[in-house]
Amino acid sequence: MRTRAAICREPGAPWELVDLDLDDPGPREVRVRFRAAGLCHLDDHARRGTVGARAPFVGGHEGSGIVEAVGPGVSRVAAGDHVLCSPVPVCGHCRYCATGRQNLCDDGADPAAGPVPFHLDERDLAGYRGLGTFSERAVISERSCVRVPHDLPPAVAAVLGCAVPTGWGTVAHLAGVRVGQTVVVFGCGGVGANAVQAAAATGARRVVAVDPVPAKREAALRFGATHAFADAAEAHDFVVDDTWGELADHAVVTVGVVDDAVLDAALMVVGKAGQVTVTSLGPGSFRHHPSPAIAYTRRIRGGVLGGCNPLDDVPRLVRMYQDGALDVDGLITARYHLHDIGTGFDDLHAGRNLRGVIVHEW
Ligand SMILES: NC(=O)c1ccc[n+]([C@@H]2O[C@H](COP(=O)([O-])OP(=O)(O)OC[C@H]3O[C@@H](n4cnc5c(N)ncnc54)[C@H](O)[C@@H]3O)[C@@H](O)[C@H]2O)c1
Ligand SMILES: [Zn+2]
Ligand SMILES: [Zn+2]
Repeated sequence: MRTRAAICREPGAPWELVDLDLDDPGPREVRVRFRAAGLCHLDDHARRGTVGARAPFVGGHEGSGIVEAVGPGVSRVAAGDHVLCSPVPVCGHCRYCATGRQNLCDDGADPAAGPVPFHLDERDLAGYRGLGTFSERAVISERSCVRVPHDLPPAVAAVLGCAVPTGWGTVAHLAGVRVGQTVVVFGCGGVGANAVQAAAATGARRVVAVDPVPAKREAALRFGATHAFADAAEAHDFVVDDTWGELADHAVVTVGVVDDAVLDAALMVVGKAGQVTVTSLGPGSFRHHPSPAIAYTRRIRGGVLGGCNPLDDVPRLVRMYQDGALDVDGLITARYHLHDIGTGFDDLHAGRNLRGVIVHEW
């Protein structure tokens, strides 16, 4: 079978639209016809080579679609099922899956593992994170599939695979924000808006959003932020004043590209025993932060998929969306054809979207 897809040939190369050959699904694999794919900053990191990816690769790790065909031994989904893709597969029986930490599943640990179902001029291509949702179709492990209701809008389903659980879970699971606390969220894009939403839903007293882009600050206020500032210094001054000098309980870092400046700002805005939870990725390594971190037992915590269990958290988030308790529609600010993927990522960098989505079927 042939499929049109956006690929990255090597780190730093632009997205390129090509027609690929696609294998039939092998054991425990399924072929998915994608209906929508989210444009996450993580794909941009993969294209640049900031994070590990097996180039050349088909981009895209947020997606939703319909299972068209299943290989031998598939039991988790069936042809005709509507699914969304999880950027971490869930085997169900490794040490991490068995202890309720599906986001750390051993199957997802190695970016060089997983199916290699695409072919171009004798070269084999994987999908990013075993997926490749910037393609009309892909063959993926059944372990990367989460079944969703047939009436869930495809774009909503796509972002429920990564942006929503990552942002939500960073606050709800990794930070463990409690009612009455003060939370500062650095970066209110696709992931950060969901961190803001979770902090507000948890009953935080102050949800302070920091983002240099005015439209992001307005969006943050719609998603439940109590205050929004253009830079870290303004937010810091507000938090000092508002907490009588005690500072914030939590800082959450969901900027597009993390660097020392934002880590410093996050560490300095949390008070004694405060926690900085970092979901963002960036190039290079970072300084140590001995004095502000060690003094007063501050903590820095990293996160993958917000600590969410895809097979537990994602269906719950789907139900919350259906109940009207979770705003996902407001996250999706633009829709693109696959051939306009370059424009989609330009818009991401220009701060024009909360989340842009490629729609495969208009
Ligand atoms: N760990 C994970 O599991 C995981 C999953 C998905 C995404 N990510 C990472 O999360 C980060 C956010 O992804 P996204 O898709 O929401 O990106 P995005 O581009 O949609 O949003 C980033 C936001 O940060 C803002 N920003 C940039 N610099 C800032 C600064 N210094 N201070 C405050 N705000 C700033 C931008 O204006 C933008 O609104 C990326 O680094 C991405 O790779 C991690
Ligand atoms: Zn596992
Ligand atoms: Zn993502």
